[in-house]
Amino acid sequence: MSDIYLNGRFMPLEQARVPVMDRGFIFGDGVYEVIPVYDRIPLALERHLDRLANSLEGVRIPNPLTRTAWKMLIQQLIAREPEATQSIYLHVTRGVAPRDHAFPKETTPTVFAMAKPMAPPPAEWLRQGVKAITHNDFRWLKCHLKTTALLANVLLRQMAVEAGAVECLLIREGYLTEGAASNVLVVVDGVLLAPPRNHLLLPGITYDLVLEIAARHHIPFEERPVTESELRRASEIMMTSSTREIVPITLLDDQPVGNGLPGPLSKKLLSLYQELKHP
Ligand code: PDD
Repeated sequence: MSDIYLNGRFMPLEQARVPVMDRGFIFGDGVYEVIPVYDRIPLALERHLDRLANSLEGVRIPNPLTRTAWKMLIQQLIAREPEATQSIYLHVTRGVAPRDHAFPKETTPTVFAMAKPMAPPPAEWLRQGVKAITHNDFRWLKCHLKTTALLANVLLRQMAVEAGAVECLLIREGYLTEGAASNVLVVVDGVLLAPPRNHLLLPGITYDLVLEIAARHHIPFEERPVTESELRRASEIMMTSSTREIVPITLLDDQPVGNGLPGPLSKKLLSLYQELKHP
């Protein structure tokens, strides 16, 4: 693995150390970003940096780097990673301080960043689609912030894995929110439905890109609340994320979605999405 970045220095991962009193370790007090990189070019970089700035502001951690400094750091990480297709992980915590829930008076945020190779989703997933389960969304009410405190997401994703599924789709008070680590789009009566961007889900960059593709190609779509019953009668369901792009879900709680194979809209969006990678 190429060197990682920690607080201003590049170093081998094995040498990177964070004090145990880092609030990221103690409280999960931090935010992060994951940026896909194709042919050494980050996809939708500005939007990822906007979202990072928004997450930092949302948890009141001062942004430790300027936009230019973030971009320089990302370029350095990309150049150091041998694989051209990679993902960049950025992570900022409130910093190191004696344990006290309230913010410390003076701390310097901890900044950690790394690049790693990114494999495309397995071909089988795209050919056959994947299995997902549903669960009550028991996360907090600031899911629009990309925080490192992911214990609820971890537990939900683990439930999926233990059920032999790839993702856990979350239902809050009768409405679909998103997946444990992805956004979810569904097709009902030929219309692509996207749960609205609000505090109950992460404003996914892939979700954005997919809706923009839909708009450009005159694919009917609506950003509006999706009920659990719409989810269950959807002809297609897909999950989107920076690292897995668009993955069709063809089995939901052991029931086939549509005819049990990836549907026409999922396939079309997936193929159009490929064009964004090599503009
Ligand atoms: N997760 N919702 C949640 C809860 C997520 O964790 C993610 C992505 C998304 C999709 O967002 P985007 O399209 O911007 O990647 C939605 C990343 C990949 C992760 O935690 O590794």
